[in-house]
Order: sequence, then structure tokens, then C-alpha cells
Amino acid sequence: MSKRIAVIGAGPSGLAQLRAFQSAREKGAEIPEIVCFEKQDEWGGLWNYTWRTGLDRYGEPVHHSMYRYLWSNGPKEGLEFADYTFDEHFGKEIASYPPRAVLWDYIQGRVVKAGVRDWIRFDTPVRWIEYDEGTGKFTVTAHDHKTDKTYKEEFDNVIVASGHFSTPNVPFYEGFDIFNGRILHAHDFRDAREFVGKDILVVGASYSAEDIGSQCWKYGARSIVSCYRSAPMGFDWPQNWDERPELQRVDENTAYFADGSSKQIDAIILCTGYKHYFNFLPDDLRLATANRLATADLYKGVVWNKNPKLFYLGMQDQWFTFNMFDAQAWYVRDIVMGRIELPDAATMEADPVRREAEEDAVADDYGAIRYQGDYVEELISETDYPSFDVDAACEAFYQWKKHKKEGIMTFRNHGYVSPMTRKKAPAHHTAWKDCLDDSLEDYLRT
Ligand SMILES: Cc1cc2nc3c(=O)[nH]c(=O)nc-3n(C[C@H](O)[C@H](O)[C@H](O)COP(=O)(O)OP(=O)(O)OC[C@H]3O[C@@H](n4cnc5c(N)ncnc54)[C@H](O)[C@@H]3O)c2cc1C
Ligand SMILES: NC(=O)c1ccc[n+]([C@@H]2O[C@H](COP(=O)([O-])OP(=O)(O)OC[C@H]3O[C@@H](n4cnc5c(N)ncnc54)[C@H](OP(=O)(O)O)[C@@H]3O)[C@@H](O)[C@H]2O)c1
Repeated sequence: MSKRIAVIGAGPSGLAQLRAFQSAREKGAEIPEIVCFEKQDEWGGLWNYTWRTGLDRYGEPVHHSMYRYLWSNGPKEGLEFADYTFDEHFGKEIASYPPRAVLWDYIQGRVVKAGVRDWIRFDTPVRWIEYDEGTGKFTVTAHDHKTDKTYKEEFDNVIVASGHFSTPNVPFYEGFDIFNGRILHAHDFRDAREFVGKDILVVGASYSAEDIGSQCWKYGARSIVSCYRSAPMGFDWPQNWDERPELQRVDENTAYFADGSSKQIDAIILCTGYKHYFNFLPDDLRLATANRLATADLYKGVVWNKNPKLFYLGMQDQWFTFNMFDAQAWYVRDIVMGRIELPDAATMEADPVRREAEEDAVADDYGAIRYQGDYVEELISETDYPSFDVDAACEAFYQWKKHKKEGIMTFRNHGYVSPMTRKKAPAHHTAWKDCLDDSLEDYLRT
């Protein structure tokens, strides 16, 4: 097979794509040449921690949005690889909410075993991609920071796996320009200890707001006030955490809310989400979508309808993550290798429209988990990705939702049943709120 395939990004989605091709080769198939471009100097995407914020050592925008002490916010049983279990990687059962370093280690384990590191060009951001109707090929322009050279190469297919939780959505509120404390977006939050003894305002009502506020609470912020635009998170917050309606404005040291209340604050953390941002793609190839489960313009959530030689991985909002990226990567691989035939253009265009309508009809978070679980099941039924018990993964998510309602600072003390091994995870040695060490060594200690 003489095809050349470009994969943009070596995060969990891009690595799933490399593993998908390698697994076909392992079974005796001839696979195309794969070139994976990664702008960072390591793999793992968001799971590859850096202390840096703003620009990296080359002047590229820092991709990383995670922070010290981050533990998984969902059970590991929902994201487990079907072809590489946690038990296989760690050689023992581990608890259900691993810290970042533990999940990074797990992600790496599978691709080290697969031997695909040589397919990745590190320190190499993709600058631009163009498609030529005449030749039917893409030209990828990349910059190799190691040699400080820009070059172009041709590819038959491009698979965009560059993530969508890196370019912050930063709103402006009146008074931000005269506020005396620090204002930062979640993307630049690195260490909760910065806010010990401080009164902080968290803007937003989703996972970053919940988790960054919880980190600050755990490590000793004096008080937290979080505010919502649409609906409160509504958990049973500790006594020094207050939830208020939308922020109206701030002055030098005080925040004012839509219910007429106000609060003196030292710092503002904007947990206001991220943008799908692809500055390396022209308009006719560039995905524009809201952060939702059914992405616009992608057949089966992965094929770019306006040019089906281009694919996107992991662009959905995410309940399911690693095993959903696998389901997508195996599906894309099989299209590229001619094992799956695409339908006519009208059928492809109707597909995301139907998916959006079905998502709009979903009643609640439980329905949304099921909806994404069904999507994963649909894709894996069409490839040789090892079939797994998606119902059991959904069940872990349902239990997780219930445990969060019971106690937002205690839910991580629970364990769930693996959809792969059917074994229930043991409780962690220390309750999350008392466990201040997020290292791999401490987590694996029994
Ligand atoms: C704060 C935070 C916490 C999260 N916690 C969890 C969690 O607990 N559990 C969970 O399952 N999910 C979590 N997620 C969701 C996360 O999106 C997925 O786990 C996963 O990292 C997505 O993988 P990805 O490969 O699609 O994207 P990313 O991890 O973002 O990786 C994309 C890769 O593409 C590279 N790249 C980007 N642009 C270019 C370019 N132009 N050229 C070359 N390379 C490029 C980047 O450097 C990066 O390595 C979290 C997300 C955030 C923001
Ligand atoms: N520990 C962890 O594992 C962890 C921690 C943090 C994040 N994450 C992950 O990171 C991803 C992103 O989560 P996220 O919370 O950053 O983004 P998100 O889920 O997209 O939520 C964005 C939030 O910002 C609000 N918002 C947007 N614009 C606003 C504005 N102008 N003014 C006020 N509020 C505004 C939204 O409110 P509306 O509802 O009104 O739109 C929403 O509450 C998720 O996949 C999550 O699981 C994981």
C-alpha cells in the first residue's frame, strides 16, 4: 500500500489512530505510511504536564490545560482501552479516579508496547494544510523546531487529532481592567497552592469550575464563590463555598452578581470553556462546531463531509474518552484501508443532522451518557476493535453521577466495575480530600 497518511497530534486520539494501524499490521495487513506531527516534545496531549503557560520554549501557544493535583473527574472504568486494560498495565487492580500522572503512564503503556513512537515527528507543529483537487492530495506544511526548518509534504489522507480543550474562551466583564487581583483562565491554572488563604471567584458551572474550585478548597483557599450563566451546579458545597447567579461586573476588589449580592475577592478564575480552534486549516477543511455530542458536518462523528479524505477524531464533548477515540480511530483506519465504504453524499450529509436532532431530544445527563455509549457501540460493531460491555461503562458513569450528588468532595472514594475485566476497583488508600500527593508512586502504593 503506497498511501501516505498524516495524523495531526499525538494525544490520546492521535495515539489511538497509530495503535489502530499498528494492530492491523500485527494481524498481517499491509498498512499505509503514517506520519504523526506533534508540536510538543512528548506524547500524551493534555496528559503531558507542563508548568509553562502562555508560550512554550519555541514561542508556540502552550497546549496543556491540566494542573498539578488533577485527578480524573470520571471513573477510569468509563475510559479503559478494550485492548489494554489497567490490570495489564499496572499488574494489579488500582482505584477508580487516577491522578493525571497515572493516566499518562497508562496511555503511554499501550503505544510503547505497540512500538509506534518512530511514527511521530515531535517538536513539529503543522502550520497549514491545503487540498489540491487536481492531484487529489493534501499538502501539509510543518515546522521542525529541532532544525528550525519549514517544509511541505504530500499526503493522501489527513486525520486531525489536535484536541479542542486548549484554546480558552475568555469573556470580558465590566471592571476586569481595573480589578486589583489576578484574572486567569482555567487553561493557565497550574497549582491550587497559589490560592491558599485567598477568597476566589470561579466563573462557570461545568467541570473546570467544579474541579478547580474543589482543588482550591482542598489545598486551603479561604472561600470560593462560583457563579453560573445558565444553571447552578447544585452540589452540596462545603460551608465556605457559595454558588451565585451570573457575574455582572467587578471593581477593584469586589464581584457583583445578578441577584444583587456582592463579594470581596482576591482572584478570578475563568472556567468558561474552550474553542474548537484550527489555525492550520483553510475554511473549506475547517470544522466549526459547538462543544456537543453530535458534531456538525462529520459523518459518523469523524468523516469531513465536504471532503471525505479528511477526518477528525475526538471533536465531540466527552463522557466517553479513550475508548471512544479508539472506536473512531479503528473506524477511520478501515475507511482509509478500503475496508469500509462510504455511502453517497446525501446520506453522509443527513447523518450529523439526524444525530444532532437525536441529541437534542435527550432528556438529561443519564440520557447523554447512553447516547454517547450507543455511538461508541455503533462504531465498534463495524470494525475489529475488541467488543466490550458498553452498558457496564455506562453503569460506571451512572454510579459516578449518583456519588457526586451524594458528596462532591467524597465521590472519588468510590470504586466501580471494569467493563473489561468485570472486577470491582479497590478503594484508594487515602480519601481524596486528605490525599495531597498526586504522584504515580503514591497512587500505586498499597
Ligand atoms: C483540564 C482537563 C481535564 C480533563 N480530564 C479528563 C479526565 O479526567 N478524564 C478524561 O477521560 N478526559 C479528560 N479530559 C478530556 C480530554 O479532552 C481527553 O482526555 C483527551 O486528552 C483528548 O485527547 P485528544 O488527543 O483528542 O486531544 P489532546 O489531548 O488535546 O491532544 C492533542 C494533541 O495535538 C497536538 N497538536 C495540536 N495542534 C497541533 C498542530 N498544529 N500541530 C501538531 N500537533 C498539534 C497537541 O500538542 C496535543 O498533543 C480533560 C480535559 C481537560 C481540558
Ligand atoms: N479533573 C478533571 O478531570 C477535569 C477538570 C476540569 C475539566 N475537565 C474536562 O475539561 C473539559 C472542559 O470542561 P470546561 O468546564 O472547561 O468547559 P465546558 O464543559 O465547555 O463548560 C464551560 C462553562 O463555561 C460557561 N461559560 C461559557 N461562556 C461563558 C461566559 N461568557 N460567561 C459565563 N460563563 C460562561 C458555560 O456556561 P453555560 O452552561 O451557560 O454555557 C459552562 O458552564 C471537559 O471535558 C471536562 O471533563 C476535567
